[in-house]
Amino acid sequence: MDDVLPAGCALIELRSRGDARGQLIALEGDREVPFAIARVYYIYGTAPGTVRGHHAHRALNQLAICVAGSCTMLLDDGHARARITLDSPARALSIGSMVWREMHDFTPGAVLMVLADRAYDESDYIRDYDRFRALVGAPEVPAGIRGPHVHP
Ligand code: TYD
Repeated sequence: MDDVLPAGCALIELRSRGDARGQLIALEGDREVPFAIARVYYIYGTAPGTVRGHHAHRALNQLAICVAGSCTMLLDDGHARARITLDSPARALSIGSMVWREMHDFTPGAVLMVLADRAYDESDYIRDYDRFRALVGAPEVPAGIRGPHVHP
């Protein structure tokens, strides 16, 4: 694992407007979120040991925030890979297009919220890891090492 953030990905520290009552984080499109928001979805109630994702997007850009609990995101652009643990509602991970992602190690009660710049479109998905690597011009995976990476 290189732990270099893939191209088009970034960690963003969000401003929390805390006071004696607690915390509040506000997100606006084209401000804290680096695109106009077209869609929001969230993943919760994840069964222990579950690994989700296993895909890249041709065009979609997303911002992922674990608003409760924590989970770990594996990112891979075919050249650089990183494992990022999202464990704070103030920590956002932007994920650009053509980045393979797998989410794992969800804690009980974790809620992963994802903001996206496009509506859901199955034709935007690349779900085959070898095909993904070919599309990004990555070297062939050495024999015996296959995606997904979380459970090779
Ligand atoms: P899936 O792609 O399996 O989720 P993940 O990549 O996180 O493992 O999505 C689960 C189901 O939800 C699948 O039937 C597609 C549907 N779905 C939508 O209808 N809209 C959406 O925005 C998303 C992300 C998924």
